[in-house]
Amino acid sequence: MSERLLSTQALEDDQSLEGTLRPQRLRDYIGQPRMKESLRVCIEAASRRGEALDHAIFYGPPGLGKTTISHVIANEMGGTIRSTSGLVLTHAGDLAAILANLQPRDVLFIDEIHRLPPAVEEALYPAMEDFQIDLVIGQGPSMRTMKLDLPPFTLIGATTRAGSLTSPLRERFGLVYRLDFYSPEELQLIVIRTAGLLGVEIKPEAAAEIAGRSRGTPRIANRLIRRARDFAQVEAEGILTQEVARDALTWLGIDEAGFDEMDRKILLTIIKKFKGGPVGVEAIAAAVQEEKVTIEDVYEPYLIQSGYLDRTARGRQVTDLTRKHFGESSPFFLDPN
Ligand SMILES: Nc1ncnc2c1ncn2[C@@H]1O[C@H](COP(=O)(O)OP(=O)(O)O)[C@@H](O)[C@H]1O
Ligand SMILES: [Mg+2]
Repeated sequence: MSERLLSTQALEDDQSLEGTLRPQRLRDYIGQPRMKESLRVCIEAASRRGEALDHAIFYGPPGLGKTTISHVIANEMGGTIRSTSGLVLTHAGDLAAILANLQPRDVLFIDEIHRLPPAVEEALYPAMEDFQIDLVIGQGPSMRTMKLDLPPFTLIGATTRAGSLTSPLRERFGLVYRLDFYSPEELQLIVIRTAGLLGVEIKPEAAAEIAGRSRGTPRIANRLIRRARDFAQVEAEGILTQEVARDALTWLGIDEAGFDEMDRKILLTIIKKFKGGPVGVEAIAAAVQEEKVTIEDVYEPYLIQSGYLDRTARGRQVTDLTRKHFGESSPFFLDPN
């Protein structure tokens, strides 16, 4: 699949700026008020006691700030973050090597923690619970295990699939947070902050325009502001007014609901070819010439979450919102696809 502008996954050119755009401290982290308030208290309490923060897990869709909050915690605790992922940590020995090098109050961040192989996950249990690991020394008859004490550290896990965690692992986390999609107001603040860091002049209405089409996701908001900046530099002397932002988003093919061409194609196909549904996802996939799993995993989640698509026992169905969006006043009314 080619890179999709509205992908919630980090694209190549997101990564170069990630270090600049990530908030470093809790006070700079926008939104997620309940999570922040809870963390603020827990961090303060742990710091006063001179202990590590409890192990924490963050779950929720991609691009909402799980990696970012993990870095923030390490900064607030005055520790260093060591990052790895459930896909990379294939051997218990690799885990032991990382653990053995931790300093007190460091953060060990394991992304996609639901992907850890069982043997590595089991090696993690004593590390989390007792700050100890079992090292295997030697081979054959002379093989023995030795316990190694670890400094008090914080394990932070991130996952897009909380349901895939085993219960013994989940139960070892003292702190569990679900990240929610961001409100348009929160995203507007994120857009303004990012514009400031990029040195782009932006009007508040322009920031709102971009925020409203960012699908509740900071990663997308940051990407759209960068593309809008490029557009403004070429077409409008670099200043992002509301009008310029609108033109930029239209140029990018993103409408007021935050849909791109494929989103529209899917919804319009259901409306025009299948009388609004219900229709099976196989039939939709065939009509729009896309793989069924891609429709299910990539396109449907946002359409469903934003209330434009219903998943019923008899198939997919558009909603009143959808009909209104594509109504006669819509610029997409005559879209032949
Ligand atoms: N609360 C926030 N405030 C400001 N920017 C944020 C926030 N959360 C995420 N971002 C931005 O969005 C991008 C994606 O966040 P990230 O933490 O990588 O998401 P995740 O790990 O959940 O996929 C980051 O580069 C960061 O700049
Ligand atoms: Mg991440």
